[in-house]
Amino acid sequence: MLMTRQDRGKWEPSSNQGIEMQIMLSDFQIALIVLTIDTVAVLWLLSGWYFGIRQKKLRTHHLAVYSVVLVQLFILILWMIPRVLMFLSLGLLNDFAGSWHQIMHDAFGILAVSLGLALVVFSVAKRRLPPALRKMNRLLMRITLVVWVIAFALGIVSFVVGYLA
Ligand code: HEM
Repeated sequence: MLMTRQDRGKWEPSSNQGIEMQIMLSDFQIALIVLTIDTVAVLWLLSGWYFGIRQKKLRTHHLAVYSVVLVQLFILILWMIPRVLMFLSLGLLNDFAGSWHQIMHDAFGILAVSLGLALVVFSVAKRRLPPALRKMNRLLMRITLVVWVIAFALGIVSFVVGYLA
């Protein structure tokens, strides 16, 4: 049977699946925590852009980018990737019309995190890069910020459709 997006919040692991923990949070509670962290992260990223570009405070700018990429990687490994694998195994993503927001979110999310990681590598190896590549850095930052915000917005749509609709 094909599950719908609305069923996903009701799905509970059976006793032999997943890791047994003393403190059990529901999927909704975890999603709410993730949504809160990601909201703070996006605001932190936007303030990092403001500090870097407008105020030329490069240390604060780098700190914002590095910390947000690191936090997102943790969330991905601990929550989003296991969830997307579960959706795939249940056939939840087979219906594009019903899951377009989740599919688009995953695609933009993969792109955003890859670009974020590329930026971190760029900034660490900056002095060793050829001038042509160094010039691309600013453009890459802008693209990453836009793609990141789109991924975040689609994450909110997925949250609303998956848990609140
Ligand atoms: C910049 C990168 C990303 C951001 C800012 C982001 C943000 C969010 C937000 C705000 C939510 C809603 C909260 C929730 O339902 O847990 C969400 C959900 C989700 N994201 Fe992401 N995400 C990103 C990347 C990714 C990637 C790369 C994947 C997988 C390929 C992914 C898979 C998911 C899945 C499966 C959910 C639904 C989780 C659930 O069932 O509640 N995300 N994301």
